[in-house]
Amino acid sequence: MLIRQGALIAFCFCSTLTVSREEQSIHRPDTSPNQAYFAETFDTSPLDRKWVLSQSLKEAEFNIYKYDGEWLLEESKNRASPGNKGLVLKSPGRHHAISAYLSTVYHFNEKPLCLQYEVFFQNGIECGGGYIKLLSHSDDLQLSQFNDATPYSIMFGPDKCGSMYKVHFIFNHRNPLTGSYEEKHARQPKTDLSDYFTDHSPHLYTLNLYPDNTFEILIDQTLINNGSLLEDMDPPVMPPREIEDPSDTKPLNWDDRRYIPDPTITKPHDWDEEAPPHIADPTVQKPIGWIEDEEPFVPDPEAQAPNDWSVEMDGEWEAPLIANPACSHAVGCGPWKPPMVANPAYKGKWKSPKIENPNYQGKWKPRMIPNPAYFEDTQPFRMSPVSAVGFELWSLTGDVLFDNILLCDDPVITRRWTEETWGQRQTHGVVERLLFATGKRPWLWGVYIFTVGLPIILFVSFMWPDKRFGPSDQEYYYKKSDEPQPDGSEDPEDHMSFSEYGSNNSTDLRKREVNKAQKKSDLELK
Ligand SMILES: *[C@@H]1O[C@H](CO)[C@@H](O)[C@H](O)[C@H]1NC(C)=O
Repeated sequence: MLIRQGALIAFCFCSTLTVSREEQSIHRPDTSPNQAYFAETFDTSPLDRKWVLSQSLKEAEFNIYKYDGEWLLEESKNRASPGNKGLVLKSPGRHHAISAYLSTVYHFNEKPLCLQYEVFFQNGIECGGGYIKLLSHSDDLQLSQFNDATPYSIMFGPDKCGSMYKVHFIFNHRNPLTGSYEEKHARQPKTDLSDYFTDHSPHLYTLNLYPDNTFEILIDQTLINNGSLLEDMDPPVMPPREIEDPSDTKPLNWDDRRYIPDPTITKPHDWDEEAPPHIADPTVQKPIGWIEDEEPFVPDPEAQAPNDWSVEMDGEWEAPLIANPACSHAVGCGPWKPPMVANPAYKGKWKSPKIENPNYQGKWKPRMIPNPAYFEDTQPFRMSPVSAVGFELWSLTGDVLFDNILLCDDPVITRRWTEETWGQRQTHGVVERLLFATGKRPWLWGVYIFTVGLPIILFVSFMWPDKRFGPSDQEYYYKKSDEPQPDGSEDPEDHMSFSEYGSNNSTDLRKREVNKAQKKSDLELK
Protein backbone atom coordinates (compact mmCIF):
# COMPACT_ATOMS: atom_id res chain seq x y z
CA MET A 1 0.00 0.00 0.00
CA LEU A 2 2.70 2.43 1.02
CA ILE A 3 4.82 1.53 -1.97
CA ARG A 4 1.91 2.15 -4.29
CA GLN A 5 1.24 5.46 -2.65
CA GLY A 6 4.89 6.44 -2.86
CA ALA A 7 5.01 5.73 -6.55
CA LEU A 8 1.76 7.52 -7.11
CA ILE A 9 2.72 10.57 -5.15
CA ALA A 10 6.12 10.78 -6.73
CA PHE A 11 4.55 10.48 -10.13
CA CYS A 12 5.49 13.64 -11.92
CA PHE A 13 4.88 14.35 -15.57
CA CYS A 14 8.37 15.58 -16.00
CA SER A 15 10.19 14.85 -19.17
CA THR A 16 10.23 11.34 -20.51
CA LEU A 17 7.24 10.90 -22.76
CA THR A 18 8.05 8.90 -25.84
CA VAL A 19 6.93 10.69 -28.96
CA SER A 20 4.70 8.48 -31.08
CA ARG A 21 4.66 8.62 -34.84
CA GLU A 22 1.08 9.72 -34.84
CA GLU A 23 1.90 12.60 -32.55
CA GLN A 24 3.92 14.33 -35.23
CA SER A 25 0.74 15.03 -37.15
CA ILE A 26 -0.93 16.76 -34.21
CA HIS A 27 -1.22 20.47 -34.58
CA ARG A 28 0.94 22.36 -32.09
CA PRO A 29 -0.11 25.81 -30.96
CA ASP A 30 2.41 28.46 -31.93
CA THR A 31 1.48 30.75 -29.07
CA SER A 32 4.66 31.22 -27.21
CA PRO A 33 4.08 30.27 -23.58
CA ASN A 34 6.08 33.30 -22.45
CA GLN A 35 3.17 35.44 -23.56
CA ALA A 36 1.07 33.62 -21.01
CA TYR A 37 1.35 33.03 -17.30
CA PHE A 38 0.36 29.45 -17.91
CA ALA A 39 -0.11 27.51 -21.13
CA GLU A 40 -0.34 23.73 -21.06
CA THR A 41 -1.44 21.51 -23.94
CA PHE A 42 -0.17 18.26 -22.37
CA ASP A 43 1.19 17.43 -25.83
CA THR A 44 4.73 18.81 -25.55
CA SER A 45 7.61 16.80 -24.24
CA PRO A 46 8.60 17.82 -21.65
CA LEU A 47 5.36 19.34 -20.46
CA ASP A 48 5.33 23.08 -20.19
CA ARG A 49 4.97 22.92 -16.40
CA LYS A 50 5.77 20.42 -13.69
CA TRP A 51 2.64 19.00 -12.15
CA VAL A 52 2.77 18.15 -8.47
CA LEU A 53 0.54 15.56 -6.82
CA SER A 54 -0.85 16.47 -3.43
CA GLN A 55 0.64 14.60 -0.50
CA SER A 56 -1.80 16.16 1.90
CA LEU A 57 -2.62 13.68 4.65
CA LYS A 58 -6.03 12.66 5.89
CA GLU A 59 -4.58 10.99 8.97
CA ALA A 60 -1.05 12.05 9.74
CA GLU A 61 -0.67 9.37 12.38
CA PHE A 62 -1.11 6.56 9.87
CA ASN A 63 0.29 8.37 6.84
CA ILE A 64 -3.02 8.06 5.01
CA TYR A 65 -3.23 10.31 2.00
CA LYS A 66 -6.42 12.24 1.51
CA TYR A 67 -5.96 12.63 -2.23
CA ASP A 68 -5.40 9.04 -3.30
CA GLY A 69 -7.13 9.41 -6.67
CA GLU A 70 -4.93 8.76 -9.69
CA TRP A 71 -4.03 11.25 -12.42
CA LEU A 72 -2.68 10.13 -15.79
CA LEU A 73 -1.56 11.74 -18.97
CA GLU A 74 -3.65 10.00 -21.63
CA GLU A 75 -4.95 10.34 -25.13
CA SER A 76 -8.38 11.83 -25.43
CA LYS A 77 -11.24 9.51 -26.39
CA ASN A 78 -12.49 12.24 -28.70
CA ARG A 79 -12.39 10.82 -32.23
CA ALA A 80 -12.09 14.32 -33.70
CA SER A 81 -8.59 14.70 -32.24
CA PRO A 82 -6.65 11.43 -32.49
CA GLY A 83 -3.45 11.42 -30.47
CA ASN A 84 -4.32 14.55 -28.52
CA LYS A 85 -3.33 14.13 -24.87
CA GLY A 86 -4.79 15.56 -21.72
CA LEU A 87 -4.59 15.28 -17.97
CA VAL A 88 -7.09 12.66 -16.81
CA LEU A 89 -8.73 12.27 -13.42
CA LYS A 90 -8.92 8.48 -13.19
CA SER A 91 -10.37 7.17 -9.95
CA PRO A 92 -14.15 7.16 -9.45
CA GLY A 93 -15.25 8.08 -5.95
CA ARG A 94 -11.83 9.32 -4.78
CA HIS A 95 -10.34 12.69 -3.98
CA HIS A 96 -7.88 14.03 -6.52
CA ALA A 97 -5.52 16.99 -6.22
CA ILE A 98 -2.79 18.12 -8.57
CA SER A 99 -1.32 21.53 -9.26
CA ALA A 100 1.40 23.43 -11.08
CA TYR A 101 3.05 26.80 -10.62
CA LEU A 102 2.55 29.62 -13.10
CA SER A 103 5.64 30.78 -14.95
CA THR A 104 5.13 34.16 -13.27
CA VAL A 105 2.87 35.36 -10.48
CA TYR A 106 -0.30 36.94 -11.84
CA HIS A 107 -1.16 40.31 -10.22
CA PHE A 108 -4.59 41.87 -10.64
CA ASN A 109 -3.60 45.28 -11.96
CA GLU A 110 -4.54 47.16 -15.13
CA LYS A 111 -4.90 44.09 -17.35
CA PRO A 112 -7.67 41.50 -17.59
CA LEU A 113 -7.45 37.95 -16.32
CA CYS A 114 -8.18 35.42 -19.06
CA LEU A 115 -8.55 31.82 -17.96
CA GLN A 116 -9.46 29.01 -20.32
CA TYR A 117 -9.38 25.22 -20.37
CA GLU A 118 -11.16 22.22 -21.81
CA VAL A 119 -13.15 19.64 -19.87
CA PHE A 120 -14.22 16.32 -21.33
CA PHE A 121 -16.41 14.01 -19.24
CA GLN A 122 -15.29 10.97 -21.21
CA ASN A 123 -17.53 8.55 -19.28
CA GLY A 124 -20.31 11.05 -18.73
CA ILE A 125 -20.72 12.52 -15.28
CA GLU A 126 -23.02 11.45 -12.46
CA CYS A 127 -21.82 13.63 -9.63
CA GLY A 128 -18.56 15.50 -9.55
CA GLY A 129 -16.65 18.64 -10.34
CA GLY A 130 -14.49 19.74 -13.25
CA TYR A 131 -13.49 23.15 -11.94
CA ILE A 132 -10.05 24.70 -11.75
CA LYS A 133 -8.62 26.77 -8.88
CA LEU A 134 -6.21 29.67 -9.12
CA LEU A 135 -4.16 29.35 -5.94
CA SER A 136 -3.33 32.54 -4.08
CA HIS A 137 0.30 33.55 -4.00
CA SER A 138 1.90 33.24 -0.58
CA ASP A 139 5.15 32.17 1.01
CA ASP A 140 3.26 29.32 2.67
CA LEU A 141 1.98 27.83 -0.59
CA GLN A 142 3.31 24.30 -1.05
CA LEU A 143 1.88 22.41 -3.98
CA SER A 144 2.64 19.06 -2.35
CA GLN A 145 0.30 20.09 0.48
CA PHE A 146 -2.49 21.31 -1.82
CA ASN A 147 -5.88 20.48 -0.30
CA ASP A 148 -9.39 21.85 0.08
CA ALA A 149 -8.19 24.45 2.60
CA THR A 150 -5.47 25.90 0.37
CA PRO A 151 -6.36 29.57 -0.22
CA TYR A 152 -7.47 30.30 -3.75
CA SER A 153 -8.36 33.54 -5.49
CA ILE A 154 -10.67 32.12 -8.15
CA MET A 155 -12.53 28.86 -8.68
CA PHE A 156 -14.04 28.37 -12.10
CA GLY A 157 -15.68 25.62 -14.11
CA PRO A 158 -18.37 22.96 -14.37
CA ASP A 159 -19.90 21.01 -11.51
CA LYS A 160 -22.73 18.53 -11.63
CA CYS A 161 -24.69 16.37 -9.23
CA GLY A 162 -28.00 14.68 -9.97
CA SER A 163 -30.07 17.12 -11.98
CA MET A 164 -28.05 20.15 -10.82
CA TYR A 165 -25.81 21.53 -13.56
CA LYS A 166 -23.56 24.45 -12.63
CA VAL A 167 -20.73 26.52 -13.96
CA HIS A 168 -19.05 28.07 -10.95
CA PHE A 169 -17.29 31.35 -10.82
CA ILE A 170 -16.29 32.02 -7.23
CA PHE A 171 -13.72 34.48 -5.97
CA ASN A 172 -12.32 35.01 -2.52
CA HIS A 173 -12.82 38.56 -1.35
CA ARG A 174 -10.78 40.10 1.45
CA ASN A 175 -12.81 42.14 3.89
CA PRO A 176 -10.67 45.29 4.41
CA LEU A 177 -12.05 45.82 7.93
CA THR A 178 -11.53 42.36 9.36
CA GLY A 179 -8.93 40.97 6.96
CA SER A 180 -10.95 37.77 6.65
CA TYR A 181 -11.86 36.20 3.31
CA GLU A 182 -15.31 35.37 2.04
CA GLU A 183 -16.36 33.41 -1.06
CA LYS A 184 -18.45 35.40 -3.53
CA HIS A 185 -20.44 33.32 -6.01
CA ALA A 186 -21.60 34.50 -9.41
CA ARG A 187 -25.27 33.81 -9.96
CA GLN A 188 -25.91 30.75 -12.10
CA PRO A 189 -26.93 31.49 -15.69
CA LYS A 190 -30.58 30.98 -16.59
CA THR A 191 -29.73 28.90 -19.67
CA ASP A 192 -30.00 25.09 -19.58
CA LEU A 193 -26.42 23.80 -19.25
CA SER A 194 -27.17 20.07 -19.27
CA ASP A 195 -25.96 19.43 -22.84
CA TYR A 196 -22.43 20.47 -21.90
CA PHE A 197 -22.33 17.64 -19.38
CA THR A 198 -24.17 14.90 -21.25
CA ASP A 199 -23.14 15.13 -24.91
CA HIS A 200 -19.90 13.14 -24.51
CA SER A 201 -17.86 15.92 -26.14
CA PRO A 202 -15.08 18.15 -24.86
CA HIS A 203 -16.10 21.70 -23.97
CA LEU A 204 -14.15 24.89 -23.73
CA TYR A 205 -14.61 27.01 -20.59
CA THR A 206 -13.49 30.63 -20.66
CA LEU A 207 -13.49 33.22 -17.90
CA ASN A 208 -12.60 36.81 -18.71
CA LEU A 209 -12.31 39.19 -15.79
CA TYR A 210 -11.71 42.87 -16.45
CA PRO A 211 -10.18 45.65 -14.32
CA ASP A 212 -13.55 47.46 -14.46
CA ASN A 213 -14.90 44.57 -12.34
CA THR A 214 -16.98 43.00 -15.10
CA PHE A 215 -16.73 39.34 -15.98
CA GLU A 216 -17.73 37.09 -18.87
CA ILE A 217 -18.17 33.33 -18.86
CA LEU A 218 -18.17 31.50 -22.18
CA ILE A 219 -18.64 27.86 -23.08
CA ASP A 220 -17.40 26.86 -26.53
CA GLN A 221 -16.93 30.59 -27.20
CA THR A 222 -20.60 31.37 -26.54
CA LEU A 223 -21.39 33.84 -23.77
CA ILE A 224 -23.47 32.10 -21.12
CA ASN A 225 -23.10 34.46 -18.18
CA ASN A 226 -21.74 37.94 -17.51
CA GLY A 227 -22.03 40.63 -14.91
CA SER A 228 -20.22 42.77 -12.43
CA LEU A 229 -18.28 41.78 -9.33
CA LEU A 230 -19.98 44.69 -7.58
CA GLU A 231 -23.56 43.85 -8.51
CA ASP A 232 -23.96 40.23 -9.50
CA MET A 233 -22.26 38.28 -6.74
CA ASP A 234 -23.81 36.49 -3.81
CA PRO A 235 -23.29 37.58 -1.10
CA PRO A 236 -22.59 41.10 -2.38
CA VAL A 237 -19.03 42.38 -2.12
CA MET A 238 -20.04 45.46 -0.14
CA PRO A 239 -22.24 45.13 2.96
CA PRO A 240 -25.37 47.33 3.16
CA ARG A 241 -24.70 50.95 4.20
CA GLU A 242 -27.43 50.92 6.84
CA ILE A 243 -28.93 48.19 8.98
CA GLU A 244 -31.94 47.99 11.29
CA ASP A 245 -31.10 49.12 14.81
CA PRO A 246 -31.12 45.88 16.85
CA SER A 247 -31.66 47.91 20.07
CA ASP A 248 -34.84 49.55 18.78
CA THR A 249 -38.12 48.02 20.06
CA LYS A 250 -41.76 48.59 19.17
CA PRO A 251 -43.39 51.19 21.50
CA LEU A 252 -46.22 49.80 23.61
CA ASN A 253 -48.73 52.33 22.30
CA TRP A 254 -47.82 51.80 18.63
CA ASP A 255 -51.13 51.49 16.74
CA ASP A 256 -50.63 49.15 13.76
CA ARG A 257 -54.35 48.32 13.30
CA ARG A 258 -55.27 49.44 9.81
CA TYR A 259 -59.05 48.92 10.47
CA ILE A 260 -61.01 49.31 13.70
CA PRO A 261 -64.68 48.63 14.65
CA ASP A 262 -66.87 51.65 13.91
CA PRO A 263 -67.33 53.26 17.38
CA THR A 264 -70.52 55.08 16.29
CA ILE A 265 -72.52 51.93 15.72
CA THR A 266 -73.66 49.74 18.62
CA LYS A 267 -75.43 46.40 18.85
CA PRO A 268 -79.21 46.71 18.15
CA HIS A 269 -81.37 46.04 21.24
CA ASP A 270 -83.28 43.19 19.62
CA TRP A 271 -80.11 41.33 18.55
CA ASP A 272 -80.17 38.07 20.53
CA GLU A 273 -76.66 36.63 20.46
CA GLU A 274 -77.84 33.65 22.54
CA ALA A 275 -80.44 32.29 20.07
CA PRO A 276 -79.27 28.78 19.03
CA PRO A 277 -78.64 28.07 15.32
CA HIS A 278 -81.03 25.03 15.36
CA ILE A 279 -84.30 24.29 17.16
CA ALA A 280 -86.73 21.40 17.36
CA ASP A 281 -89.16 21.60 14.45
CA PRO A 282 -92.30 23.17 16.08
CA THR A 283 -94.57 21.94 13.27
CA VAL A 284 -93.95 18.24 13.88
CA GLN A 285 -95.89 16.40 16.60
CA LYS A 286 -95.27 13.06 18.22
CA PRO A 287 -97.10 10.50 15.97
CA ILE A 288 -100.20 8.90 17.41
CA GLY A 289 -99.55 5.33 18.52
CA TRP A 290 -95.96 6.03 19.60
CA ILE A 291 -95.35 4.27 22.94
CA GLU A 292 -92.77 6.18 24.92
CA ASP A 293 -92.83 3.84 27.94
CA GLU A 294 -91.76 0.78 25.95
CA GLU A 295 -88.20 0.17 24.75
CA PRO A 296 -87.86 -0.97 21.11
CA PHE A 297 -85.59 -3.88 22.25
CA VAL A 298 -85.78 -6.01 25.40
CA PRO A 299 -83.75 -8.96 26.79
CA ASP A 300 -84.98 -12.30 25.45
CA PRO A 301 -87.09 -13.76 28.36
CA GLU A 302 -86.57 -17.29 27.07
CA ALA A 303 -82.80 -17.17 26.91
CA GLN A 304 -80.92 -18.83 29.76
CA ALA A 305 -77.37 -18.59 30.98
CA PRO A 306 -75.25 -21.52 29.72
CA ASN A 307 -74.65 -24.23 32.29
CA ASP A 308 -70.95 -23.61 32.53
CA TRP A 309 -71.36 -19.83 32.97
CA SER A 310 -69.42 -18.67 36.01
CA VAL A 311 -70.26 -15.23 37.33
CA GLU A 312 -66.81 -15.01 38.91
CA MET A 313 -65.02 -15.91 35.73
CA ASP A 314 -67.30 -14.50 33.02
CA GLY A 315 -69.12 -11.65 34.79
CA GLU A 316 -72.84 -11.08 35.12
CA TRP A 317 -74.77 -12.97 32.39
CA GLU A 318 -76.97 -10.83 30.15
CA ALA A 319 -79.68 -12.17 27.93
CA PRO A 320 -79.46 -11.24 24.20
CA LEU A 321 -81.81 -8.44 23.04
CA ILE A 322 -84.85 -9.10 20.85
CA ALA A 323 -87.45 -6.77 19.30
CA ASN A 324 -89.93 -5.79 22.01
CA PRO A 325 -93.14 -7.80 21.33
CA ALA A 326 -95.17 -5.02 23.03
CA CYS A 327 -94.01 -2.75 20.24
CA SER A 328 -94.82 -4.97 17.31
CA HIS A 329 -97.99 -3.08 16.42
CA ALA A 330 -96.88 0.41 17.51
CA VAL A 331 -95.63 3.24 15.19
CA GLY A 332 -92.53 3.46 17.37
CA CYS A 333 -91.24 2.92 20.87
CA GLY A 334 -88.91 4.67 23.23
CA PRO A 335 -88.38 8.41 23.81
CA TRP A 336 -89.59 10.48 20.84
CA LYS A 337 -87.41 13.32 19.54
CA PRO A 338 -88.64 15.96 17.07
CA PRO A 339 -86.38 16.68 14.04
CA MET A 340 -84.17 19.81 14.23
CA VAL A 341 -84.57 22.77 11.85
CA ALA A 342 -82.70 26.05 11.35
CA ASN A 343 -83.71 28.67 13.88
CA PRO A 344 -85.24 31.72 12.09
CA ALA A 345 -84.37 33.84 15.16
CA TYR A 346 -80.67 32.87 15.00
CA LYS A 347 -78.35 35.91 14.57
CA GLY A 348 -75.00 34.83 16.03
CA LYS A 349 -72.42 37.17 17.48
CA TRP A 350 -72.92 40.80 16.61
CA LYS A 351 -69.97 42.38 14.75
CA SER A 352 -69.61 46.08 14.33
CA PRO A 353 -68.73 47.28 10.81
CA LYS A 354 -65.01 48.16 10.27
CA ILE A 355 -63.69 51.58 9.39
CA GLU A 356 -60.17 52.77 8.64
CA ASN A 357 -58.26 53.51 11.82
CA PRO A 358 -57.64 57.30 11.93
CA ASN A 359 -54.69 56.69 14.30
CA TYR A 360 -53.04 54.00 12.14
CA GLN A 361 -49.25 54.44 12.35
CA GLY A 362 -48.28 51.82 9.78
CA LYS A 363 -46.31 48.61 10.30
CA TRP A 364 -43.59 49.19 12.86
CA LYS A 365 -40.01 48.90 11.66
CA PRO A 366 -36.85 49.42 13.68
CA ARG A 367 -35.02 52.60 12.77
CA MET A 368 -32.04 52.34 10.42
CA ILE A 369 -28.56 53.06 11.69
CA PRO A 370 -25.22 53.18 9.85
CA ASN A 371 -23.86 49.64 9.48
CA PRO A 372 -20.75 49.36 11.68
CA ALA A 373 -19.50 46.55 9.37
CA TYR A 374 -19.81 48.71 6.27
CA PHE A 375 -16.80 49.25 4.05
CA GLU A 376 -16.30 50.52 0.58
CA ASP A 377 -14.44 48.43 -1.96
CA THR A 378 -14.97 49.62 -5.49
CA GLN A 379 -12.10 47.50 -6.81
CA PRO A 380 -12.90 43.87 -5.96
CA PHE A 381 -11.04 42.92 -9.15
CA ARG A 382 -7.82 43.60 -7.28
CA MET A 383 -7.84 40.28 -5.48
CA SER A 384 -4.96 38.21 -4.12
CA PRO A 385 -2.26 37.50 -6.71
CA VAL A 386 -2.15 34.00 -8.16
CA SER A 387 0.92 31.75 -8.36
CA ALA A 388 -0.44 28.34 -9.32
CA VAL A 389 -3.33 26.49 -10.95
CA GLY A 390 -4.75 23.33 -9.47
CA PHE A 391 -7.50 20.75 -9.64
CA GLU A 392 -8.88 19.64 -6.30
CA LEU A 393 -11.78 17.41 -7.23
CA TRP A 394 -13.95 14.52 -6.27
CA SER A 395 -16.02 12.68 -8.84
CA LEU A 396 -18.26 9.65 -8.81
CA THR A 397 -17.34 9.06 -12.46
CA GLY A 398 -13.72 8.72 -13.54
CA ASP A 399 -11.89 9.58 -16.77
CA VAL A 400 -12.45 13.33 -16.71
CA LEU A 401 -10.00 14.84 -19.18
CA PHE A 402 -8.56 18.35 -18.87
CA ASP A 403 -6.69 20.01 -21.70
CA ASN A 404 -5.28 23.23 -23.10
CA ILE A 405 -5.11 25.25 -19.91
CA LEU A 406 -4.31 28.91 -20.49
CA LEU A 407 -3.93 31.82 -18.11
CA CYS A 408 -3.04 35.15 -19.69
CA ASP A 409 -3.87 38.83 -19.48
CA ASP A 410 -5.11 39.54 -22.97
CA PRO A 411 -8.25 38.22 -24.73
CA VAL A 412 -6.35 38.48 -28.04
CA ILE A 413 -3.86 35.87 -26.83
CA THR A 414 -6.74 33.67 -25.73
CA ARG A 415 -8.36 34.00 -29.15
CA ARG A 416 -5.17 33.08 -30.99
CA TRP A 417 -4.59 30.13 -28.65
CA THR A 418 -8.18 28.97 -29.14
CA GLU A 419 -7.81 29.03 -32.92
CA GLU A 420 -4.75 26.82 -32.62
CA THR A 421 -6.13 24.33 -30.10
CA TRP A 422 -9.90 24.10 -29.88
CA GLY A 423 -10.48 25.69 -33.29
CA GLN A 424 -8.45 23.00 -35.09
CA ARG A 425 -10.94 20.34 -34.10
CA GLN A 426 -14.26 22.05 -34.61
CA THR A 427 -14.95 21.15 -38.25
CA HIS A 428 -14.68 17.43 -37.43
CA GLY A 429 -17.34 17.60 -34.77
CA VAL A 430 -20.08 19.31 -36.77
CA VAL A 431 -21.88 16.17 -37.95
CA GLU A 432 -21.66 14.56 -34.49
CA ARG A 433 -23.11 17.70 -32.97
CA LEU A 434 -26.03 17.73 -35.41
CA LEU A 435 -26.73 14.06 -34.65
CA PHE A 436 -26.57 14.69 -30.89
CA ALA A 437 -29.14 17.46 -31.26
CA THR A 438 -31.67 14.99 -32.69
CA GLY A 439 -31.51 12.94 -29.49
CA LYS A 440 -33.40 15.66 -27.66
CA ARG A 441 -35.37 17.05 -30.60
CA PRO A 442 -36.24 14.24 -33.02
CA TRP A 443 -38.10 16.66 -35.29
CA LEU A 444 -34.69 18.00 -36.31
CA TRP A 445 -34.40 14.92 -38.54
CA GLY A 446 -37.17 16.41 -40.63
CA VAL A 447 -35.27 19.68 -40.86
CA TYR A 448 -32.04 17.93 -41.84
CA ILE A 449 -33.69 15.75 -44.48
CA PHE A 450 -35.55 18.74 -45.85
CA THR A 451 -32.49 21.03 -45.99
CA VAL A 452 -30.06 18.38 -47.26
CA GLY A 453 -32.25 15.86 -49.06
CA LEU A 454 -34.61 18.09 -50.98
CA PRO A 455 -31.97 20.01 -52.98
CA ILE A 456 -30.28 16.70 -53.84
CA ILE A 457 -33.53 15.15 -55.05
CA LEU A 458 -34.35 18.23 -57.08
CA PHE A 459 -30.84 18.37 -58.52
CA VAL A 460 -30.87 14.67 -59.46
CA SER A 461 -34.31 14.81 -61.02
CA PHE A 462 -33.34 17.83 -63.11
CA MET A 463 -30.04 16.40 -64.27
CA TRP A 464 -31.18 12.86 -65.09
CA PRO A 465 -34.92 13.05 -65.63
CA ASP A 466 -35.01 9.73 -67.59
CA LYS A 467 -32.92 7.55 -65.29
CA ARG A 468 -34.79 8.26 -62.11
CA PHE A 469 -36.19 4.75 -61.72
CA GLY A 470 -33.35 2.42 -62.71
CA PRO A 471 -29.84 1.80 -61.40
CA SER A 472 -27.41 4.04 -63.21
CA ASP A 473 -24.09 3.03 -64.72
CA GLN A 474 -22.41 5.00 -62.01
CA GLU A 475 -24.01 2.93 -59.28
CA TYR A 476 -22.61 -0.26 -60.84
CA TYR A 477 -19.26 1.35 -61.07
CA TYR A 478 -19.21 2.18 -57.36
CA LYS A 479 -20.33 -1.33 -56.42
CA LYS A 480 -17.42 -2.87 -58.29
CA SER A 481 -14.94 -0.60 -56.64
CA ASP A 482 -16.05 -1.51 -53.10
CA GLU A 483 -13.07 -2.66 -51.13
CA PRO A 484 -12.74 -3.90 -47.56
CA GLN A 485 -11.54 -1.22 -45.14
CA PRO A 486 -8.07 -1.73 -43.75
CA ASP A 487 -8.05 -2.59 -40.04
CA GLY A 488 -7.15 0.26 -37.73
CA SER A 489 -4.70 -1.90 -35.78
CA GLU A 490 -2.87 -0.15 -33.00
CA ASP A 491 0.87 -0.03 -32.81
CA PRO A 492 1.92 -0.67 -29.21
CA GLU A 493 4.70 1.87 -29.65
CA ASP A 494 2.09 4.57 -30.08
CA HIS A 495 1.32 4.41 -26.37
CA MET A 496 3.33 6.76 -24.27
CA SER A 497 5.19 5.73 -21.19
CA PHE A 498 5.95 7.59 -18.01
CA SER A 499 8.84 7.50 -15.72
CA GLU A 500 7.96 7.30 -12.10
CA TYR A 501 10.25 8.74 -9.51
CA GLY A 502 10.97 7.33 -6.07
CA SER A 503 9.67 9.21 -3.09
CA ASN A 504 13.13 10.61 -2.20
CA ASN A 505 13.32 12.24 -5.58
CA SER A 506 9.87 13.72 -5.24
CA THR A 507 10.88 15.80 -2.23
CA ASP A 508 13.89 17.08 -4.15
CA LEU A 509 11.68 17.87 -7.09
CA ARG A 510 9.31 19.75 -4.90
CA LYS A 511 12.12 21.82 -3.39
CA ARG A 512 13.41 22.67 -6.81
CA GLU A 513 9.88 23.47 -7.83
CA VAL A 514 9.39 25.88 -4.97
CA ASN A 515 12.77 27.55 -5.50
CA LYS A 516 12.16 27.94 -9.17
CA ALA A 517 8.70 29.34 -8.73
CA GLN A 518 9.81 31.79 -6.10
CA LYS A 519 12.65 32.97 -8.26
CA LYS A 520 10.31 33.34 -11.16
CA SER A 521 7.69 35.13 -9.15
CA ASP A 522 10.27 37.78 -8.33
CA LEU A 523 10.87 38.46 -11.99
CA GLU A 524 8.67 40.81 -13.88
CA LEU A 525 6.61 39.39 -16.71
CA LYS A 526 8.07 40.24 -20.11
C1 LIG B 1 -23.61 41.37 -20.48
O1 LIG B 1 -23.76 41.11 -21.85
C2 LIG B 1 -24.80 41.85 -22.47
C3 LIG B 1 -24.92 41.34 -23.90
O2 LIG B 1 -23.68 41.30 -24.53
C4 LIG B 1 -24.48 43.34 -22.39
O3 LIG B 1 -25.51 44.09 -22.97
C5 LIG B 1 -24.31 43.73 -20.93
O4 LIG B 1 -23.90 45.07 -20.83
C6 LIG B 1 -23.27 42.84 -20.26
N1 LIG B 1 -23.24 43.15 -18.85
C7 LIG B 1 -22.10 43.44 -18.22
C8 LIG B 1 -22.25 43.76 -16.77
O5 LIG B 1 -21.03 43.44 -18.75
